[in-house]
Amino acid sequence: MNLKNVKIISNPVVLLNLCTMRDEKTDSQGVRIATRKITRCLLYEASKNLPLVEKEVKTPVATFNAKTIDPEINLIISPILRAGLIFTDEAIDILPQACIRHIGMYRDEKTLKPVWYYNKVPMDAPNPEKFYIYITDPMLATGNSLLEAIKLYADKGIPIKNIKCICIIAAPEGIKNIQKHYPDIEIITAAVDEGLNEKGYIIPGMGDAGDRIFNT
Ligand code: URA
Repeated sequence: MNLKNVKIISNPVVLLNLCTMRDEKTDSQGVRIATRKITRCLLYEASKNLPLVEKEVKTPVATFNAKTIDPEINLIISPILRAGLIFTDEAIDILPQACIRHIGMYRDEKTLKPVWYYNKVPMDAPNPEKFYIYITDPMLATGNSLLEAIKLYADKGIPIKNIKCICIIAAPEGIKNIQKHYPDIEIITAAVDEGLNEKGYIIPGMGDAGDRIFNT
């Protein structure tokens, strides 16, 4: 596994909340609150690749050229349903120009391969270099679903440097799988855990993220 393009965000606020969300004693509401707090930190890191422009702004005492995110870019947050949904409220709060393009995939319990059931990714990407994509899924386990999602965007000509994977807990197997196909893609995560068990769960992980977030 090459950690060059893996950004592990492990400041104390993230660690505090990661500890809470992993703990089996934390109820669903607690998991959601902790996950959202981590999400913010990960998204701030992701936003470092967004292009800036200058905008004239009048403060109450002066006029100056402020820097701001280029309003002309197509910024897309693509949550992989269902656990990836937990990122969306935070994402549109802090990146109001983003649109949310849902990707519905579930993991076949036997094959661990993704099965598509919903796709809101745009058909075309005119000026693909103007597209910036954050694919969100709290658990990067085998990486199979994430790979499918990346491919969907990469095949439209969107540069790999404009596509980021945002997860909270990653397994080395999943990172390797992604890097085998897209060695230059950036993965932003709060932790890289030991590995997968025979059922494809991340160890120590947090169990089934969707179940823990949505209380099922
Ligand atoms: N998906 C989850 O929700 N948890 C895991 O540990 C692996 C995949």
